[in-house]
Amino acid sequence: MYTQSFNVPDDAVLKQVKPVASTEPPELMARFDARIDADGRIEPQDWMPEAYRKTLVRQISQHAHSEIVGMLPEGNWISRAPSLKRKAILIAKVQDEGGHGLYLYSAAETLGVARGDLLDALHSGKAKYSSIFNYPTLNWADVGVIGWLVDGAAIMNQIPLCRCSYGPYARAMVRVCKEESFHQRQGYEALLVMMKGNQAQKDMVQDAVNRYWWKCLAMFGPPDADSPNSVQGMRWGIKRISNDDLRQKFIDATVPQAKVLGITLPDPDLKWNEARQHYDYGQIDWTEFWNTVNGNGPCNKERLATRVKAHNDGAWVRDAALAHARKQQQRNMKEAA
Ligand SMILES: [Fe+2]
Ligand SMILES: [Fe+2]
Repeated sequence: MYTQSFNVPDDAVLKQVKPVASTEPPELMARFDARIDADGRIEPQDWMPEAYRKTLVRQISQHAHSEIVGMLPEGNWISRAPSLKRKAILIAKVQDEGGHGLYLYSAAETLGVARGDLLDALHSGKAKYSSIFNYPTLNWADVGVIGWLVDGAAIMNQIPLCRCSYGPYARAMVRVCKEESFHQRQGYEALLVMMKGNQAQKDMVQDAVNRYWWKCLAMFGPPDADSPNSVQGMRWGIKRISNDDLRQKFIDATVPQAKVLGITLPDPDLKWNEARQHYDYGQIDWTEFWNTVNGNGPCNKERLATRVKAHNDGAWVRDAALAHARKQQQRNMKEAA
């Protein structure tokens, strides 16, 4: 399965990407570029170009939002898990996703933004999150398929981020990837068990794969030719592998796993290409992808409403924590006086 050891491109390749023109002070900019070229880390106290900071705030907060919205489709199945063992695993997995959200909001805060503002942007529909979570989970096999394919795709995306140039993001990703690896394995194992079951169970797995396969391929983002921000992200050491290359890696890794499982991936064009030493695959429906990203997927409104309600219902917890912190501070000041 996936590990954290597969190769990321050589730094020599990344250095071929030319620095992008900037209006920042040239001396500071030169120092920043030199740090990036040396594959050094940028830390919160370091000077950084405003565009780099903004890009990171957007990417890290979108990532954080995806983690906490990602709790919802699977959380839906906790009360209906088929056994105590599956329920315990699923609770642990969904709780991990909440933890990932917390590390990432904390990483975003080191860039000088307030968590409350980031959450407001999510709740008002201004901020984006991964469109994969705007689809319903219709049968128990969806939980296994989400672990196998959605967490599997997330790992492909996130392993290179363990070497991201921004220190707090890179460090958060190391732990996140270890936990995602458990998520992927538990999903695949649950499906293996179902595929040894009766025909109805096998049909549920195939149905879930049919509904999720293409959406997982779209998780890597638009084709490189339509992804103008990628070059800048590469130059800054934020992005290390292009969308299309990550997608190809995911497909090449997943086809043999699908064979072991005994399911068919729903793509008649999926064929091994001897010359390329990769699998060829069919056309992704980008119209559907953009439609969902822009708020018109089957569950966008429901997901957002659930998040807003949870946030509002939790107001008393935040108020109580703040009141406690204030009281503690007053007590400490009194003792110090
Ligand atoms: Fe996660
Ligand atoms: Fe996960």
